[in-house]
Amino acid sequence: CGIVGYIGKRDTAPLLLEGLQRLEYRGYDSAGIAIQTGGAAGKPGALKTAKTKGRVRDLEERVPKRFSGTAGIAHTRWATHGAPNDVNAHPHLDPAEKVAVVHNGIIDNAAELRAKLSADGVAFVSETDTEVLVHLIAAAQAESLEGRVQEALRHIEGTYGIAVLHADFPERIVVARNGSPVVLGIGENEMFVASDVAALVSHTRQVVTLDDGEMATIKAGDYRTYTTEGSRTSSSPETVEYAAESYDLGGHETYMHKEIAEQADAVDRVLAGRIDDRFATVHLGGLNLDPREARAVRRVKILGCGTSYHAGLIGAQMIEELARIPADAEPASEFRYRNAVVDPDTLYIAVSQSGETYDALAAVQELKRKGARVLGVINVVGSAIAREADGGVYVHAGPEVCVVSTKCFTNTVVAFGLLALHLGRTRDLSVKDGKRIIEGLRRLPAQIAEILKQEPEIEKLAKKYADARSMLFIGRVRGYPVALEASLKLKEVSYIHAEAYPASELKHGPLALIEPAMPTVAIVPEDDLLEKNRAALEEIKARSGRILAVAHQEQEKADHTIVVPKNEDELDPILMGIPLQLLAYHTALALGRDIDKPRNLAKSVTVE
Ligand code: G6P
Repeated sequence: CGIVGYIGKRDTAPLLLEGLQRLEYRGYDSAGIAIQTGGAAGKPGALKTAKTKGRVRDLEERVPKRFSGTAGIAHTRWATHGAPNDVNAHPHLDPAEKVAVVHNGIIDNAAELRAKLSADGVAFVSETDTEVLVHLIAAAQAESLEGRVQEALRHIEGTYGIAVLHADFPERIVVARNGSPVVLGIGENEMFVASDVAALVSHTRQVVTLDDGEMATIKAGDYRTYTTEGSRTSSSPETVEYAAESYDLGGHETYMHKEIAEQADAVDRVLAGRIDDRFATVHLGGLNLDPREARAVRRVKILGCGTSYHAGLIGAQMIEELARIPADAEPASEFRYRNAVVDPDTLYIAVSQSGETYDALAAVQELKRKGARVLGVINVVGSAIAREADGGVYVHAGPEVCVVSTKCFTNTVVAFGLLALHLGRTRDLSVKDGKRIIEGLRRLPAQIAEILKQEPEIEKLAKKYADARSMLFIGRVRGYPVALEASLKLKEVSYIHAEAYPASELKHGPLALIEPAMPTVAIVPEDDLLEKNRAALEEIKARSGRILAVAHQEQEKADHTIVVPKNEDELDPILMGIPLQLLAYHTALALGRDIDKPRNLAKSVTVE
């Protein structure tokens, strides 16, 4: 979900609606806004609200022309508690319409609090967990709004990022954070608050990121931060790394297209300043792992969700190959619930684009509690997981807005290439092999640009395969995680069912599915498994299956081949997935899908 708030002299509603547009990728099943009107310091105002099921553009239609004010909060929702409808949309208000709250996160003890409040005669209008918070604030006795919010939060168990508006305190917005991001945007005689800098950067690049357990009061002219217990905290603004334009479409029809197209530059950024030719290694300044510690690592365990998990699978493969350390990847969501053995000699690595995916964050917290060393491979600088980790590698992909991840996936895998090389060179990887990998890494941006030039042909192929009801993706060893990610991309964005299998497992089941209506996409790198992969293509062809291969040379058995440039064997997976991002994109386009906001999904899943 996304939160945005504004206080200052400008007309609030248009600013908030623009902010919501920029946060819409965080959730888009309902949206709402509350504005403070009238009221000056010392004199109460009144709150006006509008909310609706659907997108921000639906909300825009509902916001009346005379909806002006100088403070306000707004929300775009990804439903957890309660169906997406007008009533469950945020902001939530008390019956007297004095208090308005927008909330991200989940209140774990909502049912219990609801029962208690209902027994006291409070009438609930929505099914949301957030509404309990509104009633608690309305009933709080403290004199200040800050005190009332603190009083209410004392009853709450769970996660929240909240912004609170109160008709009797018209000159301020009170916000609090516990597990769900809250960022203040510091302007000139105006202040912003949001769950993500994306909503702020077109107004200010000066931001303050709240910590868990921290709150803030923003007024037009100043802000202050303090803990939920009331003690002051220090917080000087930092400058946002990327300019406002990085968050725009930049001439592309969709963010997905823009982000695919940006990948050569993005990879340049993850490599920049890190390669050390003299020692055939890389410098990773934020790793906090000296060579002795690196040598003492006996295993590597990589944790992430969705696309980040798939990047982790490729990362594990690279670490095993280059550093010869046993490594594997697992969905963070599974790991955190299976009471895994946490071993002091294992290096744990959490992977996350946003750095705030709740399952990944919770896994990291559990690991830290058990004394493990955890690194992060993260895109968003200063995000929750980045703060929680002992060190790590930022992937510098730049802002990624489309719900499905493309450039961040690629940069994450390249970052793993750097990490694997670094670990390798503290162990047994030779100078010669170190140099070979460095040269391979350097070739990537130009090779990516070469692949992207094939877009017109890939678009034609996408149209040919868009009639499929289901698709099989196959690969072996290095190619298998590429197949997994390509199949996820296709299903997320086109809604065509897709399934990935190791090519070696075909005969153990999936061959039964092969028929003309079930095309296969095969990852066929020119490595020591080439002949094995070719044999798999023959098995499929013999059963009249259609085949689209991604390979380093035309494949005779395939109906179509997308030829990609060859890199070093270990780095080939980075390149082989890229044409399949374009395939997923053009398939979705041909089918008229909502590419940047696929149904039922959200980019940052900050709830369990
Ligand atoms: C959501 C998104 C996926 C993403 C996953 C992990 O499910 O829809 O695209 O891969 O979260 O996100 P993270 O920010 O942790 O990489």
